[in-house]
This record gives sequence, structure tokens and C-alpha cells, in this order.
Amino acid sequence: KPYIIIMAGGIGSRFWPYSRNNHPKQFLDILGTGRSLLQMTYDRFVEISDPDKFFVVTNNNYFDLVKSQLPEVSEDHILTEPMRRNTAACIAFASYKIKKKDPKAKVIVSPADHLVLKEDSFKRRIQDALSAAEEDNRLVTIGIKPNRPETGYGYIQYNETNGVAKKVKTFTEKPNLKLATTFLESGDFVWNSGMFVWKNESIIHAFECCMPEMAEVFEEGDRFFYTEEESEFINKAYTLVKNISIDYGVMEKSDDVYVVLGDFGWSDLGSWMSLHEIQPHDEQNNVVEANALLYDTSNCYVKVSPEKLVVVQGLENYLINESDNVLLICRLDAENKFREFVNDAKNKG
Ligand code: GDD
Ligand code: MG
Repeated sequence: KPYIIIMAGGIGSRFWPYSRNNHPKQFLDILGTGRSLLQMTYDRFVEISDPDKFFVVTNNNYFDLVKSQLPEVSEDHILTEPMRRNTAACIAFASYKIKKKDPKAKVIVSPADHLVLKEDSFKRRIQDALSAAEEDNRLVTIGIKPNRPETGYGYIQYNETNGVAKKVKTFTEKPNLKLATTFLESGDFVWNSGMFVWKNESIIHAFECCMPEMAEVFEEGDRFFYTEEESEFINKAYTLVKNISIDYGVMEKSDDVYVVLGDFGWSDLGSWMSLHEIQPHDEQNNVVEANALLYDTSNCYVKVSPEKLVVVQGLENYLINESDNVLLICRLDAENKFREFVNDAKNKG
């Protein structure tokens, strides 16, 4: 059975103020199902593998959160990072650790914050990807048919062939809007879902080729993994490695990338807008999680604690979110402003 690496160390800043540094979105029950996004990710993969095959990579600060949300995962499989170095380091850490334990391992890497609606179809595609990853040094991603020129995703162009796994021609991480629009209109591209399937030795090979500096740092780890000195090693390693995502660091560069097309009701719950898309709407296309009175208001997302009555008039395409001590009112599509909001809010205390 495959190992499952869950990447759960991001901060989800585009969900601010609901998603906070001390409690990011993967730990929130965003959909109101009673399970956090991280727990839903676990539930999805425990159908495919066993609890002792899971590794969750997260920030030091979130160790307790992961432990309490996933009691099935043993503590020594919760890998903690001293600082955020994005997904390349996160994947390298887990992969080099798995290498020491089981050099022949097969691995599925998954974000902790996605939604999958059709579980059966999802499982079938993952099985396809697992078989496809058997050959050579293939790095297999799952591709999703795009429906808008989203600039926050990776775009994959592939060779049309009969097999389930198609050889990737180009991988372009987070193109600008102009390029994304061209990609979408050409009909030739799919989105990278951010889930990856490979033999552990294939990704190690890819690190050696595409990111030799990173490989060199973690190669050292072999002596320290599963010993007392592991965390000391990791603390040092993280000061040395580049802060870069796996998409820029490996997927854009490697010639071994393949894609399996998936259609399983996937959504990267990356922003308020993407959540707005999938949540139940009222007749004016508003999502309301509040005690609210809305007048001449459409296409808005209103999420405010229930003790307050919210009265809104004349708004279109707005987000209104009150979380703890912050009230945010902004355009629903202001996704690229969030970094600024979060930074400036820090200075306001
Ligand atoms: N442990 C750890 N450490 N996890 C991290 C870190 C880190 O430093 N940074 C991000 N993560 C986790 C996030 O919590 C998330 O679950 C996952 O890794 C992906 O990171 P994102 O920051 O959400 O990436 P993205 O959404 O911008 O882009 C990726 O996903 C898109 C699809 O959702 C890329 O793979 C794109 O190509 C892809 O289209
Ligand atoms: Mg994401």
C-alpha cells in the first residue's frame, strides 16, 4: 500500500480573517461537516492506505493541532518544520525519511485543504496514477479540466495519447492572467490539482536532477532520521534550503512528468470565491452563514458570528466576514489583495 504524505503547513492567507496564522484553514471545519479539511483529507486516503502509512508535514506550531485532529497518525509520523519553506522542502523532508524506512515505497502526496465530491471516481484515478507511476521515473500528477483563467494554479499541456497517463509537454506554475486566458482558450491545458503520485525513488531522482542543492541537504539526513538528533538536523537543514514550491522546483523542470486526467468534483478551497462557488446559495446567489437581512444584494458571501444581526443593502460581489476581532469587507474577487491585508493588519495590532 502507498505512503500518504499530507502537506499541512500552509497558512491559507486568502481565507483571512477566518483562517489565521494560529489556526489556518486546513484545521477549520470550513464546510460545516464536523470534520476539518485535514480530517476530510485523511478520511479520503484512509480508504486507499493504512493509518501507519501516513506522514503529515506541518509547522512546529501546528503539531498539537494535527495530533488532536488526527489521533490515528502516530506522533513520529507528524513531521514538523521549524519555518515555512514551501512544498519542495516539505516533500523532500518526508521523502528522504521514507527512503530510509522503505526504499521501495510508493507515495501519494496531497494538499490538506482540497475538496473532492466524487470519492469513487477519485479512488479510481488515484489507482490509475499509482499504476502509471510504476514505470521509469515517472512523476504523475492529476489534471483537472479548467473552467476559468485562474492564476493561482499550475497549467499542464500534454501529449494526446491513448494511455491513462499522458506525457506532459509543458508545466507552467501560476501564469499571469494573459497567459492563463490563452491556455484556457486553447483547450489544450489542464490544471494541476496539486496531488502527486510516484515511486519514492523517482522523486528522489528528480530532486537530485532538478534541485541538487536540496537533495544534498537532505541526503545528510540519512544519518539522523529516526534518531535523537533528527530535529536538530532539520532545524539546520531548513535554514539551508531554498524557499520554493515543488511546482517551480521540480514539476516545471523535470522531463518525467505525466498527467492522469480526473473529473471527481475537485475544488481547491483556496479562496472565499472558490468556497462561494460550492456552498449553497440563496436566490440572489448569496452565501449566508449569519443571521442576516439582505436587501438588493447579490453574489455576496456573508459569514458573521450568529450573535450579531447583519443588515446589508445594495452590495454585489462582496465578502463580509467577521472572525474574532476582525471585520473584513472587500470585493469577493479581491484574491490578490489578501497578502497586503494580512501584512497591514499585523501593524495595526
Ligand atoms: N508542510 C508544509 N510546509 N506544507 C505547506 C507549506 C510548507 O511550507 N506550504 C504550503 N503547504 C501546504 C498547504 O497547506 C497546502 O495543503 C499545500 O501545501 C499546497 O500549498 P498551497 O500554498 O495551497 O499551493 P497553491 O494552492 O498555491 O498551488 C498548488 O496547488 C494548486 C492546486 O490547488 C500548486 O501545486 C499548483 O500547481 C496547483 O494548481
Ligand atoms: Mg492551495
